[in-house]
Parts: sequence; structure tokens; C-alpha cells
Amino acid sequence: MKAIILAGGKGTRLRPLTHTGAKQLVPVANKPILWYGIESIVEAGITEIGIIISPETGEEVKAQTGDGDRFGAKITYILQDKPAGLAHAVKVAQTFLGDSPFVMYLGDNLVQSDLALFIAAFREHHLDALTLLCPVANPSAFGVAKVDENGKLLQLVEKPKVPPSNLALVGIYIFAPTIHEAIASIQPSARGELEITDAIQSLIEQNKAVEARQIRGWWLDTGKKDDLLEANRVILDTCLQHQVQGDVDAQSQIIGRVEIGQGSKVVNCTIRGPVIIGENCHLENCFIGPYTSVADQVTLIQADLEHSVILQGAKIDAIHHRIVDSVIGQRAYIKEAPRRPKALRFMIGDDCQIELN
Ligand code: G1P
Repeated sequence: MKAIILAGGKGTRLRPLTHTGAKQLVPVANKPILWYGIESIVEAGITEIGIIISPETGEEVKAQTGDGDRFGAKITYILQDKPAGLAHAVKVAQTFLGDSPFVMYLGDNLVQSDLALFIAAFREHHLDALTLLCPVANPSAFGVAKVDENGKLLQLVEKPKVPPSNLALVGIYIFAPTIHEAIASIQPSARGELEITDAIQSLIEQNKAVEARQIRGWWLDTGKKDDLLEANRVILDTCLQHQVQGDVDAQSQIIGRVEIGQGSKVVNCTIRGPVIIGENCHLENCFIGPYTSVADQVTLIQADLEHSVILQGAKIDAIHHRIVDSVIGQRAYIKEAPRRPKALRFMIGDDCQIELN
């Protein structure tokens, strides 16, 4: 079994945050979203992974993720020269995949699921395709499945106006090599893309063995600010270990599950977990409240933060108000607020400078 992860696109969904970067590299609890997918695939015993990249963000994905050594996997990068659909991405990966069955994983998805269980079901039932589903409140925003009581997939529709159920495709699929013929038989959709849903629908129409399973864990979208904060909260709640490697002075108080990376200095601060602080940060006279992620090389002076994500190299200096529900982009610089507004809520992109006075 091999795996492909789709990490293409232009990174427009989280603008301005990913104006310059890949949405799959936006960190959740200080780790790129893409890496959660890689780890889950490796955990399921798959070590040959192809990552599909785009001309716009591919180099950045490659540079951050590397050749797979850090995950115990072998990563091959495969360029998809245009965003022509998920089924087109499989076409581009065909040489890499050969005649192997494979997992296809959308790299901007954060899914809590035991992939190994689904792979076992795929093998046991000799399936041509297995798709994973999750009930959602807004099925029209996704691919939607109609299934019978035994999990047999009856119909798939992409972004339907009138959804046949509330079961959305979560963006994890397992395929036998028969999918390649199905892809060769379909035409681009109205939006001009080769849709994987159409290829699976064609398998269904040929009476191939196509099933679906509902995931039991969470599925988190990371497309918007509040989704990203929610993903951050859930990951910090479920995955964070208490581990303090940085230098914490005697005046500081660390409460609950807190991770502080190497080379970080914490002076006269109160940090109430779950909180993750990256490497080489400087925190002085701060209160850092629950559900906050602070990336590497961040400087926080007299900052009061809660339920927020601060990206690499950002600097917050003497804001005498609590910052809540905020995402602060890389290298953003916020300083001084002499008067007292009631609350501050931010979505601040990379390289911004903000002065409150
Ligand atoms: C894609 C798939 C859709 C699926 C979704 C999951 O949509 O086409 O079927 O439900 O991913 O994230 P996209 O995110 O490209 O709009």
C-alpha cells in the first residue's frame, strides 16, 4: 500500500494568512497541518508517500517537510502543473503509484481516525474504493454520499444544492488500481476539473466494490480564522504533553499542560495550559492563557493572550489589553496600547505592523 497526499493549490483560502504560503503548512499547535496527515499515514504502516505539489507553493512544502526521514517515511514530490482536480492529481501520480493500492489524503484536512482500521476493511472486503465520511451541518459545501445500511456506497455528488444525506466526504480515500481506468473514463466537470467523486461514481455504476465508513473522531476544517482556532484548541486538548525545555525563571508560574521549546526564555510570566511555546522565544511579564500556540522565535513583552495562535517571528510589545480569539501572522509586530479598549480581536497577516495609540 502506498499513499498520496494532495498539497497543491495557491493558498488563497486563509488569506491574508497564507497569501504567501501553502495552506497545508499553516501550523496547528505549532505543527503544519500536512504533517498530521503524514504521521497518520505512517502510523497506519505506509512509508512510501507521494506528495502532490503545485508550482506556486511546492518549493515551500518541500523545504519544510523534507525527504520523509523525520517521519520514518520516503517522500516523493510530484508536481501537478495546474489545479485540474483531485482525479487529475491521481493521474499525475500514476507512475509513482504503479499497480499498488493506495490511500489518497487531502493535505489540508485534520482528521482523527485510525487509518489502519479502514485499510484492514478495504483489504478484507477486496474493495475497489473505500471513502471516509463524517456527518456535517452544511453538506452542500462538500462531496456528499448516499449509503445503504451495510455501508455500500450508492451515490456521490460534489457540492450538491440538494444533498442526498448529511454525510460529507472527509478527504481520505483508499483505492485499488482500478481507479485509474475510472479516471480515464470521466470528463471534466462544470467547474473544469476532473472530479474524484465522478471517478468513484463511475466505479459504482460498473458495480465495482465501493464502500464508505463513518469516522468516529473529529474532522476539522482549517479554512477560516475561527476554524483554525478551533482546530488549535482540539489538538492542544487531545495531543499536548507537558514538557518544559526552555529556561523558566523563579518568578514564573507554569500551570497545567505546557510545552516550552528549547532556547526559549520565560521571565516573570504566568502560563496556564494547555499552551505550546516554540523554540527560541522570549516571554517577559506575560499572561498566556489556555488554548494558545506560540510558534518559534516569537517575542512577547507584557502581553496578555488567550485562545490565540501566534505565528513564527511575531512580536507583541506592551499591549495592556487581553488579546483573545486572535491569529497573528509571521513576523507581525504589534506594540503599545496606552488607552483601554474593551477587547481586541485580530486576523493579522504576515509582515504586518500594527501600532495602537
Ligand atoms: C474536496 C472534495 C470534496 C470533499 C472535500 C473535503 O473539496 O472535492 O468531495 O468533501 O475536499 O475537504 P474542496 O476542498 O476541494 O472544495
